[in-house]
Amino acid sequence: MRLTHLSLHNFRNFSRLDVDVPPGSTLIVGPNAQGKTSILEAVYLLAAFTSFHASSERELINFIEARQPTAVARIQAEFERGGRSHTLEVRIIKERDRQGRERARKQALVDKVQKKVGEALGQFNAVLFLPQMLGVVEGSPSDRRRYVDLAVSQVLPAYAGHLAGYNKVVAQRNALLKQLQENGGDRAQLDFWDERLARHGAHIIHTRIAAIQELEQSAARIHHDLTRTLEVLRLDYRPAWDPLPAPNGQRPLLDAPADRRGFTPGKLEDGFRAALAANRQEDIWRGSTTLGPHRDDLRFLANGIDLGVYGSRGQVRTTLLTLKMAEVDWIRARTGHTPVLLLDEVLAELDPERRADLLARLPDWEQALMTTTDLNLFDPAFVAQARRWDILNGRLVEAA
Ligand SMILES: Nc1ncnc2c1ncn2[C@@H]1O[C@H](COP(=O)(O)OP(=O)(O)OP(=O)(O)O)[C@@H](O)[C@H]1O
Ligand SMILES: [Mg+2]
Repeated sequence: MRLTHLSLHNFRNFSRLDVDVPPGSTLIVGPNAQGKTSILEAVYLLAAFTSFHASSERELINFIEARQPTAVARIQAEFERGGRSHTLEVRIIKERDRQGRERARKQALVDKVQKKVGEALGQFNAVLFLPQMLGVVEGSPSDRRRYVDLAVSQVLPAYAGHLAGYNKVVAQRNALLKQLQENGGDRAQLDFWDERLARHGAHIIHTRIAAIQELEQSAARIHHDLTRTLEVLRLDYRPAWDPLPAPNGQRPLLDAPADRRGFTPGKLEDGFRAALAANRQEDIWRGSTTLGPHRDDLRFLANGIDLGVYGSRGQVRTTLLTLKMAEVDWIRARTGHTPVLLLDEVLAELDPERRADLLARLPDWEQALMTTTDLNLFDPAFVAQARRWDILNGRLVEAA
């Protein structure tokens, strides 16, 4: 899969950008605060329909444009998938509702036809590496869930649908739990929500089990190479409601992630529903749902050591890179198309050997956009064969 053209309109510091995107590697070069990361963010939005790091979508709209009562940021792209050309457009619209409150909403157009975001997901795939994403390895469980959810939703839109359904049900069930905690009432009212929670939850757990195990297969191989055989990487999925009975109530040993692939969605649904019922009293005491995929975690183990706790900076960074490359393999295996790779300041903080290993892998990918403030980090032979865009103050110049 590859992007062939990108246009931005009032997106971040780009009031207007229009550029043909070449195949292979493109280096996006410029000093700090010129718009390099913003370009990657825009391309990623076409795949995930959400920004990895903006806390509100309104932030994506150009400041000056956003002063208007109604303002629109637009990302338009042409891309090729399986030899066919398509167009994709994402609009972020800021407007006022009838009460005068400001709100932002998104629109997606696939081949010029307006679609729900859920329907537009999966058309275009991209994998994004941002240095700020180290939280995926060393941050909170919610950072890791978000990482898995974004990667999987791009490929399996049904997963995104179940996730949205699940989160809604958790909120509604929690509201009822609070009410039962404060005022008492008929607990059988929970049956209705538990049924839905079990259905959506089982789909999420089933998909996470498979996806994490598939990711691990590529990740272990890549990590072994990137660390020159020093580290064996394992991905340890830790579901908050675990279909595997824990021996003596203990978690299994750290260096031996459990294999849960034998569980069918039906079995998971029955098990999760029963666990919710058994845990009802506890949930009412707490006034919230204590079990389920909204509390899942994922750990990264190198030679049996939890990198989230003990990883060095370089180790954590290498692991994140490994994960991103494994994501490329996973998307390719699942969809038959290679996603576009977006790498932000990827070589910084890597030792020269790891830099060389990473650049050596780039030809495997159809298209990569990579930002840097410092071209000297890249091997001259690599720079010679790559295309280059210079970015200055929201303007792009294609280097000759
Ligand atoms: N909504 C917005 N409207 C206008 N400008 C914005 C908006 N959001 C961010 N900016 C500005 O856009 C500029 C470019 O940001 P970006 O993160 O893309 O820079 P960068 O080239 O990646 O820099 P660095 O090398 O420091 O990472 C910054 O000065 C930022 O303040
Ligand atoms: Mg940047």
